[in-house]
Amino acid sequence: MDRQEELAVGRRLFGHIDGRTTDLADALFRNRTINYSCRERAAVERDRLFRALPIFMGLSTRLPKPGDFLTEDVAGMPVLMTRGADGQVRAFANICRHRGAPVATGCGNARAFVCPYHGWTYDSAGKLLGTTDKVGFEGLDHGAHGLVPLPAAEKHGMLYIRAQPGGEPIDIDAVLGAIAPDMAALRLDSHPLYSTDKVTPRINWKFAIDTFLEGYHIPHLHRKTIAPYFVGNCGVFKSGGLNGRLSVPKTTIESQRTMAEDTRDYRRHVVSIYQLFPNALLIWQLDHVEIWRAFPDRDDPSRCEVEMTIYRPAESTRPDSYWEKNRDIAIRTVMEEDFPLGERMQIGFESGATEEVIYGRNEPLLVHFHRSIRNALGVRA
Ligand code: FES
Ligand SMILES: [Fe+2]
Repeated sequence: MDRQEELAVGRRLFGHIDGRTTDLADALFRNRTINYSCRERAAVERDRLFRALPIFMGLSTRLPKPGDFLTEDVAGMPVLMTRGADGQVRAFANICRHRGAPVATGCGNARAFVCPYHGWTYDSAGKLLGTTDKVGFEGLDHGAHGLVPLPAAEKHGMLYIRAQPGGEPIDIDAVLGAIAPDMAALRLDSHPLYSTDKVTPRINWKFAIDTFLEGYHIPHLHRKTIAPYFVGNCGVFKSGGLNGRLSVPKTTIESQRTMAEDTRDYRRHVVSIYQLFPNALLIWQLDHVEIWRAFPDRDDPSRCEVEMTIYRPAESTRPDSYWEKNRDIAIRTVMEEDFPLGERMQIGFESGATEEVIYGRNEPLLVHFHRSIRNALGVRA
């Protein structure tokens, strides 16, 4: 966030710490437990959230050089994302126009993509360069058989795609709304990717996101890990369209209290969690950026794939051991404390014994996330 915003958030946090208060949602919010396990609901979410809306693909530094590419399945859409020789970021359905094999796997750098099945070749702009049997495919219009393009955009060091061909171009500032200036101020394009970890917990994808949206649970569930470092149940919330931000203070924020306001530096003392709708979190931590993305399983609403990535500042001189420690703390707290409990909660939901869960007014980002889901789906419950 920019300097003025940072100081304003700091002021409000000190106000909450002194008054033992926190930002509040306007009302309690009740959500149906079936929304976490129902197949029909999962199908609607796939179409209206994961296919119809722009999806955050991580930072631009995933594709730093011309020729770089990555592949991913986004809620059932095989995606190939490239940076062309012209520096432009593009996305395609990763589906060969001959008989449908994926033309690329994993990530890397390539001048062209050669389909592994029969060797048709495409360039990084998706153009079909050639087929391998000229006679067999005589008369085929190469110009009409390039890879199917998907909307793609890059701004503020962020990558977005839409996992559905056609439609409007993606306007990242419009997608981010009121949190766009925060993203611009983070200088995300100067944070290279450090690590990627993936897990497949037995929880609905929304559970994986919910985990990060309130600090209320920190003193309880994380008593033995991160709780000593945080002021519990205290945060400042901001809405950015469907997205939202929650800034939570670390106990070290007290070091800034006696300083003149314009010399205060909250970067190391406040963790800001951005919920990038629908399925991602960008966490501004101390001196680096942590990104979590959750994708629903293709068949089972009770499962998802969660990816955790750490991006460190390019200018950092810290040794790898320091970043390993950060990675380890993130994995330990989330994958060993939050997700295992989430798996038990998922089982509880599926038992049918309770129909609703309640999000408190002290959990404003959690309320905002589920309200955004309702708005985007066009449903009342
Ligand atoms: S499926 Fe790609 S060349 Fe045949
Ligand atoms: Fe947690």
